[in-house]
Amino acid sequence: MDKSEAILKINQLRELLKENSYRYYVLNAPTMSDYDFDQAMKALEALEAQFPELITPDSPTQKVGSDLERGFAQYPHRYPMLSLGNTYSIQEVEAFAQRADKALGKGFTYCCELKFDGTAICLNYVDGKLFRALTRGDGVVGDDVTANVRMISNIPHTLKGKGWPRDFEIRGEILMPFAAFERLNAEREEIGEAPFANPRNAASGSLKLLNPQEVAHRGLWCTLYHIPSQSVAFRTHDEALAAAADWGLPVSDLRRLCNGISEIEDYIEYWDTERKKLPYATDGIVIKINEMEYQTALGFTAKSPRWAVAYKFQAERALTRVLSIDYQVGRTGAVTPVANLEPVPLSGTVVKRATLNNKDWMEQLDVRVGDSVWVEKGGEIIPKITAVELSKRPSDSVKAAFPEVCPDCGTALVSREEEAKWFCPNQDGCPTQIKGRLEHFLSRKAMNVIAGEATVNQMYNLGLVSTPADFYDLDERSLLMLESWKEKSVKRFLDSLEASKQTPFEKVLYALGIRFVGESTAKELAAHFGDVDSLAGASLEELRAVGDVGDVIAASVYEYFRDPRHMAMIERLRAHGLRFSAAAPQAKASDALAGQTIVISGNFSISRDAMKALIEANGGKNSSSVSGKTSFLLAGEKAGPEKLRKCEELGVKVVSEKEFMDMIPSAAAPAVPAIEKEPTLFDL
Ligand code: IVH
Repeated sequence: MDKSEAILKINQLRELLKENSYRYYVLNAPTMSDYDFDQAMKALEALEAQFPELITPDSPTQKVGSDLERGFAQYPHRYPMLSLGNTYSIQEVEAFAQRADKALGKGFTYCCELKFDGTAICLNYVDGKLFRALTRGDGVVGDDVTANVRMISNIPHTLKGKGWPRDFEIRGEILMPFAAFERLNAEREEIGEAPFANPRNAASGSLKLLNPQEVAHRGLWCTLYHIPSQSVAFRTHDEALAAAADWGLPVSDLRRLCNGISEIEDYIEYWDTERKKLPYATDGIVIKINEMEYQTALGFTAKSPRWAVAYKFQAERALTRVLSIDYQVGRTGAVTPVANLEPVPLSGTVVKRATLNNKDWMEQLDVRVGDSVWVEKGGEIIPKITAVELSKRPSDSVKAAFPEVCPDCGTALVSREEEAKWFCPNQDGCPTQIKGRLEHFLSRKAMNVIAGEATVNQMYNLGLVSTPADFYDLDERSLLMLESWKEKSVKRFLDSLEASKQTPFEKVLYALGIRFVGESTAKELAAHFGDVDSLAGASLEELRAVGDVGDVIAASVYEYFRDPRHMAMIERLRAHGLRFSAAAPQAKASDALAGQTIVISGNFSISRDAMKALIEANGGKNSSSVSGKTSFLLAGEKAGPEKLRKCEELGVKVVSEKEFMDMIPSAAAPAVPAIEKEPTLFDL
C-alpha cells in the first residue's frame, strides 16, 4: 500500500473507531462487535507501524476510550488508568510469554485471572474509608461516581482488619450479574424503553445514573483486581490482592498462579467452558506477571502495561436457518421484526428466535427466509443474528419486506425521527396495542389484579373491555361468560379488582401506561405534583423541572393529558374510587424528634413540603445544610451527592425514609406503601 492510500485507510479506521468508542463508552449502545472493533484497531496499529510518521497523539491507538459524561465532577487519576493489549490467539499469548522469558530470565510467575466484562472503576480509600470512586474516563481524568458506588452492596465503606496503607487506590470492575440484567431489561421492555444490549452496557449505564438511590436497585456488583504498585508495597500482585481481600475488599479468588505457558493454557481451557456457569459475564483471561519488581521493570506503553495481556474468548456462535420472520406489535405500537429459527444449541440454551431489532438493521443484514445465519449471544444473553452465510443462500430466496402497514390492524406504519423503530399509530384501534395496555394496567407492578394475558384476551374478544376503566364496570354475569370461569374465579377476580382501588397514586399513574413513564418516573411525578389534576395541568417547563424528566418524557406526559379520551377515562376511574392523589400526611403531633435538627435531601413518597411538615409535627427542626449540628440526614431518592459526602466527612448519620417512618409514631406517619421485595424472574 502506498502512503496516500494508507492515509485514506488510516483516516477511515480512526473515524470508525472513534465513533464506536463513543457509542460503547458514552452511549452504552455499541453497534460493532468487540471482535470487529479489536480487528479494526489491529489494522490501524499495523498501518501506523508501517508509516510511523502518520501517528498522531489523538489516534485511537494512542488513547484509551473515554466514558466521560456531563453531570459528573471530574478528577484526575493519580496513575493513568490504562487498558490491556488484547489477543484472540494462543500463539500471541505464547509470544507474550516468550518475550517475558527473554526479558526477565528465570524466577518469575504469572497470575492468571478472569477478564470480567463490566466497566472499570478506581476506588480510593483514605484512613480505611472509601473516599472517592472514579470511572476510567479517558484514562487520565475520570468521572466521580462515589455516591453511586456507595450504593453497591459488596463495596465496603470502611475497611476491616489492619495494615492497610493510609491512602491507596484499588481498581476493578463493576458488573451487572445476569439475573439483575434480565430483570432490568424485562422492566425496560415493559415500559417501551430499549433494552441494554448486554450486562456490560447495563453496568456502565447504571453506574452513570444521576440518582444514587436508583443505582441501589440495579443489583450492581464489584470485583477488584489491581492495586497500582506505586500505591502499596507488596512483593507480588497475588499477595497484594490477598491482603486486599483481608481488608474486606471484594477480590475474586478464581485467580491462579502459573509457572509457564502450559499452565496458562490449562487455565484458559478450563475457564473457556467453566465461565458459562458463573453468574456474571467474563470475556477472557488476563495474564499478568506476578512479581511487582518485574512489572516495574517491564513498564507501560502509551496505552497498556507490558507486564500483562488479555486473551479474549471468541463470542460463541452457531449456524442455523431462518424459518420465518414475524413482525411483532408491542403495547406502544412499535413493530419489531423477529426471526424464527431452526432450534440450535448455544451457550447452554436452545435458541429458537432472534430479534432483528428494527427495519434498518434488518435491511442492512438482508436476512431472508431460508437463509443460513450466524447467531450470537450478545453478552451471552440476547440472541442476535450477526451475519448471513451468503454461500448457502437458496437461489430462489426473496428479499424480506418490512411491512408498510400494521400486521394486526392494517394501519399504515409511521416512523418517528428520534427512534429507529416504526410504529402503528392506531393507538386506540389496534387490538394488540389495546390488549397490551390492558395487560399492563392489571400487571403486578401496576394495579396488581390477578388476570393474565389469556383472560384479558378473552375479555377483549367478547367486547367486555377496551379501556382500563371498563374493568371496573364488569359484573358477575358478564364474567361468567368467560371460558371455564365459575363463581369462585369470578369472586377472586372481583375481590382483586376491589382491592386494587387502594393502589397508591404513583402505581396508578404507572398503570396508565403513558409512554416512557416507568415505575421510577411515575413515582417522581406523583411525589412532585401530588395529584393528577396538578400533573395534567403542568406545562412542559414544569414537567421538565422534575428529577429525571427530560424533553422526551415531558412531551409524552404533556400530550397524554391533552387527549380528551384519556381525561374521560381518568374521570371514570376516579369515579370508581381509584387513587389519583398521594396520601396526605396527617398533622398528628408527637415529641419523637424533639431536639433533633434534620436535613432532608432527595425525593420521597410524599412531597418534600409534606415531609418537612411531618418533621415539625413530631418536634424536629428542619435545616437546609449539613453541619456538625445536624442530627441526621433524611435521604430520599436522588439525595444530593454533596450532602451525602458531607455526612460521610462529618460522621453524620444518614437515615432512609423507611427508617425515618419507624422513628415516629405510626399514626403520625402518612400511609406510605410498604417497600416490596424486588420480584425475581420466577415471580413474574
Ligand atoms: S488489569 C493496567 N485485570 O479489562 C491494567 N483488567 O481491556 C490494569 N479487566 O481496563 C487492568 N478484568 O477494565 C485487569 N482481571 C482483570 C480484568 C481487567 C477485566 C478490564 C479492565 C481493563 C480492561 C482492558
